[in-house]
Amino acid sequence: MVILGAGPAGLVLGNLLHASGVDCVVLERATRVQVQARSRAGFLAANTVRILDRHGLAEGLRRNGREHATCEFRSEDGRFRLDYGSLGRRERHTVYPQHELVTDLLTQYLEAGGRVRFETAAVAVHGADGPRPSVTVREADGRPGRWQARYVAGCDGRHGAARRSLPPGTVRRHQHDHGVSWLGLLAEAPPSLDAVGYAVHSRGFAGHMARTPEVTRYYLQCERDGSPEAWSEDRIWDELALRMRVEDYGPLRRGRIVHRSLVGLESDVIEPLRHGALFLAGDAASLISPSAAKGANLAVLEAEILARALIDDLRHGSAEGLDRYSAQCLAHIWRAQDFSQWMVQLLHGVPGSAGGSVFHDSLRRSRLESLRVSRSCQDWFAENYVGV
Ligand code: APR
Repeated sequence: MVILGAGPAGLVLGNLLHASGVDCVVLERATRVQVQARSRAGFLAANTVRILDRHGLAEGLRRNGREHATCEFRSEDGRFRLDYGSLGRRERHTVYPQHELVTDLLTQYLEAGGRVRFETAAVAVHGADGPRPSVTVREADGRPGRWQARYVAGCDGRHGAARRSLPPGTVRRHQHDHGVSWLGLLAEAPPSLDAVGYAVHSRGFAGHMARTPEVTRYYLQCERDGSPEAWSEDRIWDELALRMRVEDYGPLRRGRIVHRSLVGLESDVIEPLRHGALFLAGDAASLISPSAAKGANLAVLEAEILARALIDDLRHGSAEGLDRYSAQCLAHIWRAQDFSQWMVQLLHGVPGSAGGSVFHDSLRRSRLESLRVSRSCQDWFAENYVGV
């Protein structure tokens, strides 16, 4: 079993397979330091925590993660808070920085005797529709190499070798550009709210998400082709203050901006997720907008579904799970895509314009008002916001 990529999908899959005695190796193009340092999301759904708990992979997040169960929405029509932890299925998020989760998963896998080949870039998957698929790689010293396996799991992201190796005409690709870009910011500053903050403003969206007691993630809707470096720290904090209406709701706790990146809100789904002996999971299977922080949660869910199916096949001779894998994961993917799309429209005007059309803006305001006053709308929101 060859797994491409040491992100959440690849490492959860590797841990589960190794624990079941399935011989597997993870091929990762980056170094261990790079893999462990990559700052990404950190908003784990209750189901994700249950999956990790079930397999003994949740010690770090249980020790250092912090529960989150409240959102605060701010707009031209005022402010309201939603305690989603007491709505819908009464589930909460656990905030735990993803680089810490990846470090935990990697450490546990290696300490259990799992194999990772760092600085080994997969170039292509060959013969996936035959009995002996193989992966050609570029080793750390640049030499070419080849790995053979019964199955290959493509957990190497949207631009990885697994997707590139899918023969043309064998998959349908659904791409959607939401027409919105965010400037993703990491500030060395304590959180300014005790909730996830969503600020809707005619100048554009602003978001606030605590990461740790000392670090806060902010988002600023920006021009599609904007340059993160064009934003001075003063301009960033002044714009966040404007859009989060600090005049009405209190100041933001400022600090040094330690990381910035431009995020285009896009969706990109591959169907089916299986091509013979090659299976896609995580971002390799589907890219989702960060509006509801579902990416890593889908990756963990798909990794568990794939692990169970592979173990049933390799250890018990039952291929039923593998045959069902794609349809089962796509049902979760499309539900998450639907909710993320709903969130994008709740938080922004018409894509591609800061203020949007009057019609769409009125829809947006009405949707936000329904969320403020309707219990059934709140239950639906809570179930989808925390669920995967
Ligand atoms: N060969 C080997 N490794 C590769 C290759 C390749 N050709 N291309 C990419 N990789 C590695 C990357 O270096 C990375 O470590 O694959 C890994 C993919 O990890 P992620 O991008 O984290 O993807 P995934 O595990 O699917 O997690 C998806 O987690 O990163 C967050 O929120 C983000 O939605 C995303 C979610």
